[in-house]
Amino acid sequence: MATKIGIIGAGGMARYHIDGFRKAGAEVVAMADISVEAATISAKANQIEHVFDDVAALLASDLDAVSIIVPNKFHGPLAVQALEAGKHVFCEKPPALNAAEVREMIAARDRVGKELMFNFNNRARPESHEMKKRIENGTVGRINSAQAKWIRRTGIPGFGGWFTTKALSGGGPVIDLLHMLDLALYFMGNPEPAHVIGQTFDDHIDNKDFKGPWGIPDREGGTTDVESAAHGFVTFRTGQVLAFQMSWAEMVKREEVSVVFQGVKAGGKIERLFGSDGLDETAIDTCELYTQESGERVDTVIEVEECPDMGRIDSAANFVEAIEGRALALNTAEQGLQLMQIIDAVYESAATGRPVAI
Ligand SMILES: NC(=O)c1ccc[n+]([C@@H]2O[C@H](COP(=O)([O-])OP(=O)(O)OC[C@H]3O[C@@H](n4cnc5c(N)ncnc54)[C@H](O)[C@@H]3O)[C@@H](O)[C@H]2O)c1
Repeated sequence: MATKIGIIGAGGMARYHIDGFRKAGAEVVAMADISVEAATISAKANQIEHVFDDVAALLASDLDAVSIIVPNKFHGPLAVQALEAGKHVFCEKPPALNAAEVREMIAARDRVGKELMFNFNNRARPESHEMKKRIENGTVGRINSAQAKWIRRTGIPGFGGWFTTKALSGGGPVIDLLHMLDLALYFMGNPEPAHVIGQTFDDHIDNKDFKGPWGIPDREGGTTDVESAAHGFVTFRTGQVLAFQMSWAEMVKREEVSVVFQGVKAGGKIERLFGSDGLDETAIDTCELYTQESGERVDTVIEVEECPDMGRIDSAANFVEAIEGRALALNTAEQGLQLMQIIDAVYESAATGRPVAI
């Protein structure tokens, strides 16, 4: 029988989850949102039969799994509630507001024996798949160092709403644009972090000239208390190192989403450069490996299929395949915990001006 899934949160991301679950053969049968109007509109557009304005009612219905696509503050509590109702959970990124909440989610998963995965959709991009294959087959060798970036000049996703309210989001671009940090860790083999040093900046964070071309509506009189940019460095117990830069508003040329790494045998780059409008249609993708062969420099372009959705559909499909035992999970909750420990440490280092030991 097909896996039955319910969606919690009818916002912009829901359609990718629905497409991915259906691609993997699951049935998407129910949708819940605190706005019953939003749930009704999305359910109708996506041919979903049942609509709920209450998550408990959705969880009491006949479902195997749920997907959580709501503001970050609710990821932890809703995941615990859904796991305790006996459902597998696929939760949007970031895993939660902080590492302590992810520990509670993992404890609930272990109590009930269900799956808990996060939507690190960039791991499901064709570029990432090709690169991971070359890392695992020994072409790259040990990755000593990597640089992870998601940087924007004008990319604040709405003013005064949940994105810019730390109590609801957990922070600004560090937590919102964590994808490349996650992808670099994935390529490096998720080594155990040792120390983190970071700095955050809040320039332009309430300047509407720096708004992105997407996001959620502005809220007059709402809160804006998150960073606009961050830079930092992570060391690992293995001796590997990782530099990162994330921004919503910073004086950079164009939006860049990239992981560059230096392996002992090969270096590599996965990069998406967005056009000045910041939209997917104008993006330029690069996937390359750099080696020395017989005394010559060899730069290899890895050709992949275009994937404008940045792996979102295949990431949701992988969740279904993983809970049905047809594929290995593309991420584990423990890796989500490790990422949140690093993010907690970035904020602590920025607040104290000191390196933080993990
Ligand atoms: N993986 C990606 O590429 C990606 C991209 C954008 C957003 N996201 C993540 O998706 C999540 C949602 O973002 P969005 O842009 O869709 O937000 P959104 O504000 O557009 O939509 C969120 C929806 O959740 C509903 N909601 C809020 N609290 C709820 C609750 N407690 N119970 C049920 N419904 C609730 C809201 O009414 C709204 O309809 C965030 O965690 C964000 O980080 C991921």
